[in-house]
Amino acid sequence: MERADVLQPPKNKGHRSVVSIPDAWYPGCRSEELAEGPVARTLLGTPLAIYRDGDGAAGALLDRCPHRNVALSGGAVDERGWLTCPYHGWRFDRTGGCRDVPGLPPPSDTEVQERAVPSHAVHEQDGFVWVWGRPDAPPKGRPVRIPHVDDPSYLVIQREYLFEASLHAALENALDVPHTAFVHRGDFRGGPRQPVTAIRRRIENGIEVEYQGEPPLAGPSHDEEGRPIVQQHWDRFFLPSVAQVEYLTGGERHLVTTFPHAPIDDYRTRGYLVTCWRLPGVEPESVRPALEKYLDDLLAQDVAILARQTENIRRFGGETYRSTDLDLMGPEIWRMLRQAERGLDPSAADIACTVELTV
Ligand code: FES
Ligand SMILES: [Fe+2]
Repeated sequence: MERADVLQPPKNKGHRSVVSIPDAWYPGCRSEELAEGPVARTLLGTPLAIYRDGDGAAGALLDRCPHRNVALSGGAVDERGWLTCPYHGWRFDRTGGCRDVPGLPPPSDTEVQERAVPSHAVHEQDGFVWVWGRPDAPPKGRPVRIPHVDDPSYLVIQREYLFEASLHAALENALDVPHTAFVHRGDFRGGPRQPVTAIRRRIENGIEVEYQGEPPLAGPSHDEEGRPIVQQHWDRFFLPSVAQVEYLTGGERHLVTTFPHAPIDDYRTRGYLVTCWRLPGVEPESVRPALEKYLDDLLAQDVAILARQTENIRRFGGETYRSTDLDLMGPEIWRMLRQAERGLDPSAADIACTVELTV
């Protein structure tokens, strides 16, 4: 080999599956987290102070006082409902307007705006404070709903975790079937492989893959009369950051897990998991501890493999991707994210396909 070849940099150096889509809703925090006062969260690389004002309405402000840079998330809401900076006590309303500077007379409207801090629109829904990614901009539409989160006939388990991974890598992992028999071997799939048909289709603002003929993930594979139990399974992606997995087993047992993600920065993503289980004939609270442990074990495995993926992307200074028919979600999620980032129609591509595989 020629010396010059040896010194070639790795191919694909510089390719990074990272996007920034500010015109969208992201989960900022859980509603209940605001009970104790403001929280500091970073979204799309921007530090935010998320808090509840005197009216009980949530707000999201840039987490930097325009006076001398102190984090507003370290402040408190005063008796007038304004967020108070902990250094000199400047006070801000939910729109970011500076309503009071201690020691000065009440400000004019111009002064309120001159001393303002950027603010983000928020919308509370399904137990989350959703934050619009672009500051000082009116939001469009509503966040994705989380089915069954308030349904008393479902056992609901919620988890939060931090991925050392890009938004795209985290989303792909949540919806990636082939890794489950490997990374989660023994916990989830990993038995003798079974033939399954996967059908990919477009849904509003997203992608759905339906799996037909899949045996149940857990529990009995045949009913009392010896007939095979059929599991229906759908994986879904909703632009830009929500993954969803739904199983309906034997027509009764229902599981839908929704994963809202918040990109903290290029290679850190906060993930939330809201899993809702209808388990006929089972007392929900009797299975909660075991299910929580099961989920925590699965998530720890995903957190670990994604950290290894990111570490190696950093080691090579970029990415390479060689996808096959089994990679039903990742490349199309990437295409939608990229189109959205460029302001193009993210749903323009014809993605319909049917793939025979084994799981
Ligand atoms: S730094 Fe916030 S009031 Fe001075
Ligand atoms: Fe996983």
